[in-house]
Amino acid sequence: MVLPQRPTRRLDDSQAGIAEAASLLVQGGLVAIPTETVYGLAADATSGAAVAGIYAAKERPSFNPLIAHLPDLDAARRQGLFDANALALARAFWPGPLTLVVPVSIGCTVSDLARAGLDSVALRVPSHPVARAVLRSAGRPIAAPSANRSGRISATSAAHVLADLDGRIDAVLDGGPTEIGVESTIVACLNGAPRLLRPGGVPRTAIEGVIGRTLVLEGPAGAAPISPGLLASHYAPSAQVRLDAVAPNPGEAWLGFGPGATELAPSEAALNLSPRGDLTEAAANLFGYLRRLDEAGRATIAVAPIPMHGLGEAINDRLRRAAAPR
Ligand code: TXA
Ligand code: MG
Repeated sequence: MVLPQRPTRRLDDSQAGIAEAASLLVQGGLVAIPTETVYGLAADATSGAAVAGIYAAKERPSFNPLIAHLPDLDAARRQGLFDANALALARAFWPGPLTLVVPVSIGCTVSDLARAGLDSVALRVPSHPVARAVLRSAGRPIAAPSANRSGRISATSAAHVLADLDGRIDAVLDGGPTEIGVESTIVACLNGAPRLLRPGGVPRTAIEGVIGRTLVLEGPAGAAPISPGLLASHYAPSAQVRLDAVAPNPGEAWLGFGPGATELAPSEAALNLSPRGDLTEAAANLFGYLRRLDEAGRATIAVAPIPMHGLGEAINDRLRRAAAPR
């Protein structure tokens, strides 16, 4: 796709930088902003034209709906209808790495394009102080998918944003590396029991504790996928990805996990997600390490097995997509 080039400004996370980011958003601009999960490519969710800019910059299939970000629960409740489960989850985990898909309210101002024409809307109240300041200042729902080109590895630093989107967006607001490192958990509260659409920064067990029942992750198989963006191949580095590897084969890059994994493959193309075996640390390192190993130029990245508990479910989900046939 040929996209008109524009200079991408670097804003710092001072009050002036935040005010400038909000002002660009209100004018219909595209600004990458930090959140606690990953960087988001933000635009005014109420403007179809601004949202169209996101799809163009990301080269994202336009059937894929976006998350609308709000400064607090009150603002979110003006956009969507919260049943008892949605309310309990919002109160437990907002602000934070949880997205709720709920029916649109009568007064919902999120554009049809941002919702991809659905009668539901994905809402999130992030906890990152810079994101919250931008949202308060913009005073409207802000659509923000991860700030990477479609199908690529999500951005967890301003440098990663620029590697994918420099010259395609108006600005990047640099708030340093993101803390959690994987995207929000997505739960649909539409009619009946809540459904887990994407594992993410809030572990499944924490969600289950609040709603008092177990959740099954909806696979891509089955009837019409309820989350159209959850395509199988995603987060894809240029290299092939080989999962559950005991050790790297000769010539493979190596993404290890836990004690001993580093010693297994001492090379410039080897990294350990967490030498002490901490899944929270591993999530924070995941996307940045995949990018670094990709830059090593090996044909394949071998990845150690990652336990499934805590943030491990989200890490394994992203790794499976990175390894999916494309
Ligand atoms: O942590 C995050 O959630 C990050 C930060 C920037 O907030 N955002 C993010 O957005 O990951 P994105 O666009 O990469 O992923 C949003 C997912 C997509 O898979 C999309 O299909 C799904 O949310 N989604 C959005 N609206 C939906 C809806 N109404 N029904 C079902 N799924 C929806
Ligand atoms: Mg994404």
